[in-house]
Amino acid sequence: MTDPAPARLVVLVSGSGSNLQALLDASADPAYGARVVAVGADRGGIAGLDRAAAAGIATFVDPVKAYETRDDWDVALAGHVAEHKPDLVISAGFLKLVGPAFLGAFGDRYINTHNALLPSFPGIHGPRDALAYGVKIAGATLFFVDAGVDTGPIIAQVAVGVLDDDTEETLTERIKVAERAQLVECVGRLVREGWTVKDRKVRIP
Ligand code: GRF
Repeated sequence: MTDPAPARLVVLVSGSGSNLQALLDASADPAYGARVVAVGADRGGIAGLDRAAAAGIATFVDPVKAYETRDDWDVALAGHVAEHKPDLVISAGFLKLVGPAFLGAFGDRYINTHNALLPSFPGIHGPRDALAYGVKIAGATLFFVDAGVDTGPIIAQVAVGVLDDDTEETLTERIKVAERAQLVECVGRLVREGWTVKDRKVRIP
């Protein structure tokens, strides 16, 4: 029997794209079971798009401001993602909340990695907020996106200890190391093994 075709990943980015790079590196191994077929962004001129181009992967850029309304942007983004027929869509440092059209199309297979242990510290300043609160354990959460802000069913979490002399920068970078490993491992397992979600509980058989 021949191996099944690798699962198709579309990755959305807004910045440096180190999580994207980790997925690109992992998918170089055919045993990983997935490949990145396209990278989308909400802005140009970012390292994440350069990484995609360097890997020879299709890109598209959909700035919210290019559309008359937020809903128009949401429809366009969903359309551009759909063109690549993804099995899984991954928000990896994508700084935009998608809307109903996108969730209608991909809500069953749209995941996001967040740099805090949800439900604590949602939003775009996870490590900063965790430090300000004085927590001793920070970390990262991978979850299925729903209509809320970082509220969807949790796939996996990884803990990262906070050091007395941590700054926002040092903690953010340490979280990202653990976050990338978690993302790569979980995406591989999701596409190879499948998953179920019941009463918010995500199970990978
Ligand atoms: C990640 O830590 C993610 O949790 C946060 O932004 C970071 C993205 O990093 N929202 P990168 O662009 O993948 O390097």
